[in-house]
Amino acid sequence: MNIVLLGAPGAGKGTQAQKLVAEFGFAHISTGDLLRAAVKAGTKLGVEAKGYMDAGKLVPDALVIDLVKERLEADDAQNGFILDGFPRNTAQAVTLDSELAAMGRSLDAALLVAVPSESVVARLSSRRTCKSCGYTAPAGVDVCPRCNGEMYQRDDDKPETIRHRLDVYESQTAPLVEYYKGHSILKEVNGDRPVDEVYADVKALLAL
Ligand code: AP5
Repeated sequence: MNIVLLGAPGAGKGTQAQKLVAEFGFAHISTGDLLRAAVKAGTKLGVEAKGYMDAGKLVPDALVIDLVKERLEADDAQNGFILDGFPRNTAQAVTLDSELAAMGRSLDAALLVAVPSESVVARLSSRRTCKSCGYTAPAGVDVCPRCNGEMYQRDDDKPETIRHRLDVYESQTAPLVEYYKGHSILKEVNGDRPVDEVYADVKALLAL
């Protein structure tokens, strides 16, 4: 299956993607993780992207689209992928459709993880992320359960940046809900419940 995950910052896209990848082996393509790896490695892309990310703004489309194209062509993405954090605006969604069509592929589902903004602010303020593999967990988890890496708080998980990221989501990304409804592939799960309850519904919605 080729799946796009939609939802506000902190809705639980990464959390649900981690579970789907562990159970079904899809390729997990998270543009946030790819960009954070570029920042950590100090590449030209990372240096350009860092200022946008720290301010909670979208990184320019051209930079992100090239990253995603390269990742979609990798061997592990040929048997199904989960796009997490991409597309983030209509231009990215249109480009994704045309890139996939050129590869003879298409999306099977766009899954919206719906969570009210009060819940996401609380979740992001207490989120910890693995420095090595990007695994996320609530505060209190100091060692990554997946790779034993060190957990840290992301620079963009500060209250003022979180609010800006939510504004960016509402103005630029939320319109994709209508875009994918128009393509008849939108599915919606209530993400404001315990992780495993959300995951059970995710699998049912995706017929997995
Ligand atoms: P990105 O890394 O994509 O961040 P995001 O979309 O803001 O999403 P998050 O990773 O913050 O949240 P999530 O929904 O994955 O939640 P999670 O599962 O971690 O992007 C970061 C930046 O990169 C952007 O601001 C932008 O600058 C740039 N960027 C990325 N993609 C781009 C693109 N396409 N174009 C341009 N720029 C781009 O969960 C959050 C917390 O809640 C965790 O602690 C988790 O344990 C907890 N949690 C999860 N589910 C539940 C639950 N059901 N109940 C209770 N707690 C839960």
